[in-house]
Amino acid sequence: MSEDSGMVIRNRKEDHVNLAITENVTVEGVTNGFEYFEFVPTAIPDIDFNDISTGVTFLGREFDAPVLIAGMTGGYPKAKEINLKLAKVCHKLNIPMGVGSQRAMIVRPETRETFDVKQTVPDVFLIGNLGLVQFSYDFTMESYVKAQQDIKADAMAIHVNSFQELCQPEGDLNWKDAWKNLDMICKNSEVPVIVKEVGTGIAMEEVRRLVNIGCAAIDVGGAGGTSWPKLELFRNEREDALSLTDETLKWGIPTAFATWEATRVPKASIISTGGMYHGLMAAKALAMGAKMVGVARPVLQALVNYGEEAAEKWLRQYFLNIKRVMFLLGVETVEELRGMKHKLIPMGKARDWLEGRKMLSD
Ligand SMILES: Cc1cc2nc3c(=O)[nH]c(=O)nc-3n(C[C@H](O)[C@H](O)[C@H](O)COP(=O)(O)O)c2cc1C
Repeated sequence: MSEDSGMVIRNRKEDHVNLAITENVTVEGVTNGFEYFEFVPTAIPDIDFNDISTGVTFLGREFDAPVLIAGMTGGYPKAKEINLKLAKVCHKLNIPMGVGSQRAMIVRPETRETFDVKQTVPDVFLIGNLGLVQFSYDFTMESYVKAQQDIKADAMAIHVNSFQELCQPEGDLNWKDAWKNLDMICKNSEVPVIVKEVGTGIAMEEVRRLVNIGCAAIDVGGAGGTSWPKLELFRNEREDALSLTDETLKWGIPTAFATWEATRVPKASIISTGGMYHGLMAAKALAMGAKMVGVARPVLQALVNYGEEAAEKWLRQYFLNIKRVMFLLGVETVEELRGMKHKLIPMGKARDWLEGRKMLSD
């Protein structure tokens, strides 16, 4: 790959972080759908609030909360500082952290240190990141192993982002052999593989297929949070690009509906990401059966605008809000919370979706 494409990636990653912080990168009228699910309260909880634990086991490790920081950045100087601060916060709170796409690192090996937070924070649980479509172009299993080993990633996230690519001026649109490549990755990876969407959701049928090929976890990455198509369109100057108000930007399964679907698949370990900006939403996703909840932009905003402590404070409040909901439901552990799908009542749009998908009787 040419030096030019290396520069394009570097600028793109920097643009992404700046746009995510300064612009409205959600789509008007699109929510993550959790407001369409109401809990049946437990009036007499019969537990002590102080006995509630938000601890979970995920990919073989114990964490203090069922929350991870979804991959965001790397590949340019400022990204090193962001990733390092995120790593410190995640280590302190004992939750997993993801880095952004390591493609930059493959193209420009000198950017490795912007991802390699373990040099400073060796014990943080680190999730590496590569895009699946790249394997339809020039990536091989060797690129994958290098990306994983160079930063000692404990797990690897493979992002699937066809809609984002479609809106990128320099997007990669040849997705041929995507499943074949994913199969190769899952069969040969030495660490657990997480497949993640970044805002349009993954339907149950594909979740089933992902489980069958050996994905250790699936991040449904639904609509309603940061919109990648919109974010890309801010920087797309092509005459034929979609407009920022185009109806197509509403494309995607809202995170709540995708989570409900995905958690029906036996043996699927589901991460619920996409607009998960409050502990109440997280509690609903966990009650549906999600294993973890992923958060990206709000933590980045707190960190870049106000610093490491602000990001930590935001997360602590988030965990406390999960705990509050657990109290109101009368459950002491996340495992118990995960058995509470029957306490969630789908209403309005959620009912319509589940009826359309013949899932209302769950
Ligand atoms: C600035 C920024 C950069 C991101 N870069 C990546 C990336 O490189 N790889 C990836 O898989 N997801 C990336 N994401 C997507 C997030 O991991 C997440 O799926 C998405 O932002 C939805 O979560 P949110 O609504 O909490 O922001 C990025 C998100 C942000 C905000």
